[in-house]
Amino acid sequence: MGLPDMARPAEPSSESRLTYTDGSSRTVYATDVEKPFPEGRLIVSRTDLNGIITHANDAFVEMSGWAREELIGAPHHILRHPDMPKIAFKGLWDDIAAGKKWHGYVKNLRKDGAFYWVYATAVPNIRNGVIVGYTSVRRKPSRTRINELVPVYAQWLAEEKAAS
Ligand SMILES: Cc1cc2nc3c(=O)[nH]c(=O)nc-3n(C[C@H](O)[C@H](O)[C@H](O)COP(=O)(O)O)c2cc1C
Repeated sequence: MGLPDMARPAEPSSESRLTYTDGSSRTVYATDVEKPFPEGRLIVSRTDLNGIITHANDAFVEMSGWAREELIGAPHHILRHPDMPKIAFKGLWDDIAAGKKWHGYVKNLRKDGAFYWVYATAVPNIRNGVIVGYTSVRRKPSRTRINELVPVYAQWLAEEKAAS
């Protein structure tokens, strides 16, 4: 079952229709409001093998704007921002499904349409040699690196749109 469409924010926003890898789609609204990464905190979540959220720490709940009860059981793409190219997440999934650590910069969408950048590390959780789920820990990102990546992600996104 897919996520419901987002509520339109009070601030000016751009509307996009996102289609996810699982075939579901929803309308999202993105504003220009940035929520800064909280100093000295880590944003942590765990998922099952399908990317369904099974754990979210307090910083995750606060930064995403969703209630914990809304997050647990939801697909992690609940945070996907329309400015993020699909190729960024392909790298994530290719690495963690192969048992490797992944790290990268992600622009996340809040429930209220605002955004927040993170520097994320994702790892597979391995029990008795078998991958049973995934964990991601996000740190405060480098502003210099964000500024370098914004045009790169925009270029990848434009190429994906042109190809679709
Ligand atoms: C442990 C883990 C953490 C993830 N964290 C995020 C995240 O913070 N933001 C995000 O947009 N996608 C995150 N993803 C990737 C999503 O599962 C999904 O691949 C992505 O949002 C793109 O959506 P789609 O693959 O459904 O098209 C995470 C995946 C895993 C396994």
